[in-house]
Amino acid sequence: MFDQLKSQPADKILALMQAFKDDPREQKIDLGVGVYKNAEGVTPVMRAIKAAEHRLWEEQQTKAYVGLAGDPAFADAMIGLILGDAVPREAVAAAATPGGTGACRQAFELIRMATPGARVFVSDPTWPNHLSILSYLGMDVVPYRYFDNETGGVDFDGMLADLRAARAGDVVLLHGCCHNPTGANLNPVEWQAVIDLLNESGLIPMIDIAYQGFGDGLEADAAATRMVASRVPECLIAASCSKNFGIYRERTGLLMAVSQDTAQRKLNQDTLAFLNRQNYSFPPDHGARLVTMILNDEALRADWMAELEDVRLSMLSLRQALADELQRLTGSDRFAFLAQHRGMFSRLGTTPDLVEKLRAEHGIYMIGDSRMNIAGLNANTVPVLARAIVDVGV
Ligand code: LMR
Repeated sequence: MFDQLKSQPADKILALMQAFKDDPREQKIDLGVGVYKNAEGVTPVMRAIKAAEHRLWEEQQTKAYVGLAGDPAFADAMIGLILGDAVPREAVAAAATPGGTGACRQAFELIRMATPGARVFVSDPTWPNHLSILSYLGMDVVPYRYFDNETGGVDFDGMLADLRAARAGDVVLLHGCCHNPTGANLNPVEWQAVIDLLNESGLIPMIDIAYQGFGDGLEADAAATRMVASRVPECLIAASCSKNFGIYRERTGLLMAVSQDTAQRKLNQDTLAFLNRQNYSFPPDHGARLVTMILNDEALRADWMAELEDVRLSMLSLRQALADELQRLTGSDRFAFLAQHRGMFSRLGTTPDLVEKLRAEHGIYMIGDSRMNIAGLNANTVPVLARAIVDVGV
């Protein structure tokens, strides 16, 4: 049996993570995998998480199973965080999942189950694992234009033109904020135009929101998701707590199925529970419990928000410093888009050859499509990166 197996393509983000580890050079810089690092290069456990873990250790009396959709209190807290009061609670079915990846996987399975012929329209580029899971599930994927290499912004006309080719029932995968891998995002007017198109064409939006709080702030980063959820008849939302709670390895996420037809909720809820049962039975609980505790406790929530805001502001100032340094070295505003991008990533907009040159000659690791994790920088490495970008001739 085993000899029938074929080797699978390596995930380019995880392969780069390993290559960085294996590089013996001391001066290397890791701008690869999307993990926040502070100025000392550490991915800290957030203060509120530590406090919640302490409390959980003292108070938790059992680790017996909870429910197939996870603890409803987790869903309530996350729905509040992401959707606010944009839609009535009865419109939302939700199930905890192993991280945002689990939420995406379950969402794709639900789409395949509900409308087997649906195609999934994805931004070009999108997070590579979207493509990998969709291909693994045998689903039809159609890319839509998104990033404009010339301006470093969104090719909005191209995006709309490509989405016009979608048929009723097709799904459009959108990034709620902090687009991964480009860092380029739609403005509110553009979001409204997308919503109009979705409604005119009968398309179903699926929003992946994995970086709420990393862009313009917790509320601002949820605005587009709220707009979509309240203005379309149905949507799917895959949310991650990995980044904004810093609990990457705890695998904490939530899949929401929103329907304005609230009579639909029970069937949606049962389907989400069924899908969990088929794939892994009960979702992980530890991270979800910490998140619930933090969101429902005034002091913990305030402390979490303050630390998250520091994280956000530190990434913004690194962006600005990099754009300024490149401006100084090149005497042009060619790289000003880096300061306008939001979230953890920016796409530099250069060729795989130059990305490879940055790695080989300068020990700078970014994904082959020139995605950089801004949080991998610090005050000392910003000038090193800027100089290297100019040196290799980006
Ligand atoms: C990333 O895009 O680097 C992160 O979401 C980590 C991952 O799993 O790919």
